[in-house]
Amino acid sequence: HCALSAHRTAGTRSFLSRAWELSEQPLKKLVRRPLRLRLEAGAHEPMEPVSTPYQHSLLKDRSQYDAEWRRSVEDPAGFWGDMASNYHWEQQFETNHQSENFDVRKGKIFQKWFRGGKTNLTYNCLDRHIERGLGDSPALLWEGNEPGTDKVLTYKQVHAAVCQLANWLKANGITKGDAVAIYLPMLPELPIAMLACARIGAVHSVIFGGFSSDALASRVKNCEAKVVITATGGMRGKKAIPLKRIVDKGLAKVSGLVSKVLVYKNPDVPECDWTDGRDVWWQDELASQSTDCAVEWVESEHPLFTLYTSGSTGQPKGVLHTTGGYMLMAGTTTRYVFDLQPGDVYWCTADCGWITGHTYLTYGPLLNGAASVVFEGQPTYPDAGRVWAIVQKYKVKQLYTAPTLIRALINAGDQWVTKYDRSSLAILGTVGEPINPIAWQWYHEVVGEGRCPIVDTYWQTETGAHIITPLPGVWPQPPGCASLPFFGVQPVMLNEKGEELQGAGEGFLAVKASWPSTLRTLFGDHARYETTYFQPFKGYYFTGDGTRRDKEGRYWITGRVDDVINVSGHRIGTAEVEAALTEHPGCSEAAVVGIEHAVKGQGLYAYITLKEGHEYTDALKKELVNIVRSQIGAFAAPDVIHWAPGLPKTRSGKIMRRVLRKIAAKEESELGDTSTLADPAVVDALIANRP
Ligand code: WT7
Repeated sequence: HCALSAHRTAGTRSFLSRAWELSEQPLKKLVRRPLRLRLEAGAHEPMEPVSTPYQHSLLKDRSQYDAEWRRSVEDPAGFWGDMASNYHWEQQFETNHQSENFDVRKGKIFQKWFRGGKTNLTYNCLDRHIERGLGDSPALLWEGNEPGTDKVLTYKQVHAAVCQLANWLKANGITKGDAVAIYLPMLPELPIAMLACARIGAVHSVIFGGFSSDALASRVKNCEAKVVITATGGMRGKKAIPLKRIVDKGLAKVSGLVSKVLVYKNPDVPECDWTDGRDVWWQDELASQSTDCAVEWVESEHPLFTLYTSGSTGQPKGVLHTTGGYMLMAGTTTRYVFDLQPGDVYWCTADCGWITGHTYLTYGPLLNGAASVVFEGQPTYPDAGRVWAIVQKYKVKQLYTAPTLIRALINAGDQWVTKYDRSSLAILGTVGEPINPIAWQWYHEVVGEGRCPIVDTYWQTETGAHIITPLPGVWPQPPGCASLPFFGVQPVMLNEKGEELQGAGEGFLAVKASWPSTLRTLFGDHARYETTYFQPFKGYYFTGDGTRRDKEGRYWITGRVDDVINVSGHRIGTAEVEAALTEHPGCSEAAVVGIEHAVKGQGLYAYITLKEGHEYTDALKKELVNIVRSQIGAFAAPDVIHWAPGLPKTRSGKIMRRVLRKIAAKEESELGDTSTLADPAVVDALIANRP
């Protein structure tokens, strides 16, 4: 525990705060400013690469990877054509199957993969395996919130359940291209609902169960969902989450849009309110549906799902992924990065409400014929040994989780881990934020007994699948390094002028050409799509992250360079939180910045100025936190509220976030130049008023 906190103040600071240095201005301005990624000397000395005895089943070494990567970018048609032959295509795509425009100066941005092809993702996840005799192997291993509650579903059983729901959706007017909102706890019904939509060409939009009714309403409205699939509620530890009640509240705000709400009766949360004519029970309606449902063959570019994610400005964006390219990249990355093979027991701890639960809990593992663990509960319930108890119980071979959970479990103590048998583990994965070397080492040594390679996978909701990632056992891996591009991905490191940098150094992380699972658009707002991802650096997809590249060509992600904050691996836009806070009648202005947090990675620190006639009280503080909970969700609640007599602004009225970040971090000795402030006295007043 002590070692962890000591390290965070000494070394890891640079990991996160370098990004904050950069994020003080919106991107437009940012890209014209000189890069400020300097490190204090010695603040981050990379540790030596670590070797493990693991032997990858497809790649023998780094030179084979190099050769295959080169082929994948020099001859994408050939490479992806080979990968595509692992899947079923009802109608073969054309050989020259990729076309794209990545450059706003040349017109509209678009990407098309596997043109002319027709396929179906659910068919490839289920029917294909059943046809080759894997029907009786486990597909979903559900572990309930309470230890001892569980369920095994084979490929055949998942197929039957998916068909019943798909038939119900069709019977209720859902056809190809219609949107269906899914708001479910982590029951097997959640991946089943996603697969049912994909089977009939409906577009799913999964809304994370931690989102509030307001957040649900805006997402349902944006994607124009006709049907909502939910449950009476779900259990998180000892707490029941009344999901149906949240749906009722949310739908009251978008009346008329949703014609049917399909409610799964969770025996743990039996009660809920009812709207006759709109609400129907999953258990009643589906039992009478046939367990066979013809597949809807869709074009490669047919929309598969939307998933909302936060940006540095405005409301969440509906990232749209399509069928063929997403399928290829989900299946291929899972195969290579986790060396996943049919029959493997694989556990990704993410919730299906986030992209990780889409690509690496549902589609990737099922495309590879593996058994995917679906865990309903909280990883520390009923005690800090739960994760390792589950690993032992199911003999998990690949474990995929987030640095924030690793840090929380380090704090609980090694005895919780060593108590359980972890000899089944072969590969450990992490995702969501940069992993600090101390957490990496603990994961490697204590959890994996020094035997398992760690894959520190870098990607985003927008990229659909891993884009920079280690491949287990293929090269020695330095802690905290995302390392090398996945096949078909061409990352570049840019300076502020958008010029490609060569060799070792630091810069902005962008990608040079389309890869199969690039997001195709933002739902209903192609202009925003182009502005956000393709305008900042002409000719490139911009990730929003900074990176360092070492002399071996490995990438080290340094974190977001925009106003996006990563709290426990959840992406939160400061603008959204500020908009929620200023909804309060007493709040005049709000400015939210990230602060370091020992477990969550980053926390939210909110500066608030009040309107005349309002007083700073504990009650008001609670109201402000609650307004964020109700507009976004509990996970976005600010950790600190700082009553500000005034905010530091330039003469043109722009808030200087750099100053706010320094004060929040208690680093006012490093405030830098404040001479452009309209009223420099504001700074001292803020420091004097620290909570
Ligand atoms: C942002 C994307 C896609 C998985 C879950 C998060 C950060 C993600 C890593 C990593 C350093 C990482 C980036 C990225 N991130 N993985 N291995 N190392 N940073 O998805 O919510 O779309 O967030 O998460 O900052 O931009 P997301």
